[in-house]
Amino acid sequence: MVFTRRKMRQCIFLGIATILVICLYRTWASQLSYGGKESGEVDDEGRDQIVVRPPVDKEETDSLTRELEVTRRKVVQLEQKLQDLESRIPLKYPDVKYLNYKNRKRILVTGGAGFVGSHLVDILMTEGHEVIVVDNFFTGRKRNVEHWFGHENFELIHHDIVNPLFIEVDEIYHLASPASPPHYMHNPVKTIKTNTMGTINVLGLAKRVGAKVLIASTSEVYGDPDVHPQPETYWGHVNPIGPRACYDEGKRVSETLSYAYAKQENVRVCVARIFNTYGPRMHMNDGRVVSNFILQALQNESITIYGNGKQTRSFQYVTDLVDGLIVLMRSNYTLPVNIGNPVEHTIEEFAEIIRDLVGGKSVIKQVAAVEDDPQRRKPDIARAKKYLNWEPRVPLKVGLQKTIEYFRKELARSNHHSQRNVFVPRHAAESKL
Ligand SMILES: NC(=O)c1ccc[n+]([C@@H]2O[C@H](COP(=O)([O-])OP(=O)(O)OC[C@H]3O[C@@H](n4cnc5c(N)ncnc54)[C@H](O)[C@@H]3O)[C@@H](O)[C@H]2O)c1
Repeated sequence: MVFTRRKMRQCIFLGIATILVICLYRTWASQLSYGGKESGEVDDEGRDQIVVRPPVDKEETDSLTRELEVTRRKVVQLEQKLQDLESRIPLKYPDVKYLNYKNRKRILVTGGAGFVGSHLVDILMTEGHEVIVVDNFFTGRKRNVEHWFGHENFELIHHDIVNPLFIEVDEIYHLASPASPPHYMHNPVKTIKTNTMGTINVLGLAKRVGAKVLIASTSEVYGDPDVHPQPETYWGHVNPIGPRACYDEGKRVSETLSYAYAKQENVRVCVARIFNTYGPRMHMNDGRVVSNFILQALQNESITIYGNGKQTRSFQYVTDLVDGLIVLMRSNYTLPVNIGNPVEHTIEEFAEIIRDLVGGKSVIKQVAAVEDDPQRRKPDIARAKKYLNWEPRVPLKVGLQKTIEYFRKELARSNHHSQRNVFVPRHAAESKL
């Protein structure tokens, strides 16, 4: 075969053109791979696809890495917070019965975050009722009822009962009032308002919705009694201008209001005259005999007795009181009823019993007597026995032991809020003791 000059030129030109095309193709392909060729991505028909991403520079990558690190740290912090919060919420509510709509009641407990109120709430809740607590947290604490937070039968309303309240309920236990001398003497005018205006608001609500009301009155309506033990028929011996008058007279007016609403407005009322009560969740620093003595004994301090120690008191355990309140509310009895434990001890005896139960070496010492301190206090509970078939069951030492246990834990609390001392009944039997 003979190559002409013209044919040779054509071949050389074709070769150069082919080399140029190959070079161009390589450059284009290398640019593609620098921009980020993603392998393994396929199109709808299953063919390999080349995905082109915009080039990412190093600075951008570093800043993204830093952001990722900060976010990771935040997630760890949030997880720790969540764990902390979860540890404060009881995983399981105490056992609650189911009641159908005919038997289930809507019950308002004013002062339900306080010592007595919270134990009452425990029983009503475990029975299966819907419970609404109204409290201004003057002496009450959320901690006392927090084991019910979120339960479908439970509601907590932050409200001062001195102001009117509009809700629909079947029964009202009216307990809102400071109960210990340092608390009610702290603001005497407010104590009087709570027991007069507060009671008017509760009775007005009961009148409007047709609810039955239980008024938590007190043995203090007997003042410094000159009849012993005190029956409900005793009218009392109260100093109307003494330091305790704001409470004693406040409660006496509260009783008067109740019977006025009953007579004039047909409101169904019952009145419990509550005697000294003790138990877990009582205030550590309420200045009353039981809490003072337990605290002093647990801290190995001297146990102080005001006066000569021969004055007497009778103390009931809180679950006995709550049983009494509930049977009274469910009875048809309308006159005031004493709810207390008639087993009487001198203050001196109490000091010894508590010191022995705690097992410390505290000495018992006497200090000056306080003004208007009643010398004898013991309920006559014949009425409660006869009409309610009620009497206290918990022996003093059993109740005191439970209370000492609670106070011991309270004193051992650490600085961490999450490690606080919460008294939670696991089932109805336990809350009744
Ligand atoms: N604990 C006793 O030994 C005893 C003895 C006799 C009578 N009581 C009566 O029983 C009731 C409960 O006593 P406690 O020992 O549980 O006292 P507490 O102080 O523990 O409870 C009273 C509750 O009422 C709340 N409260 C006070 N004023 C209020 C207001 N204006 N509005 C809304 N809530 C208010 C407080 O915050 C607290 O939660 C009181 O009415 C008291 O007078 C108690």
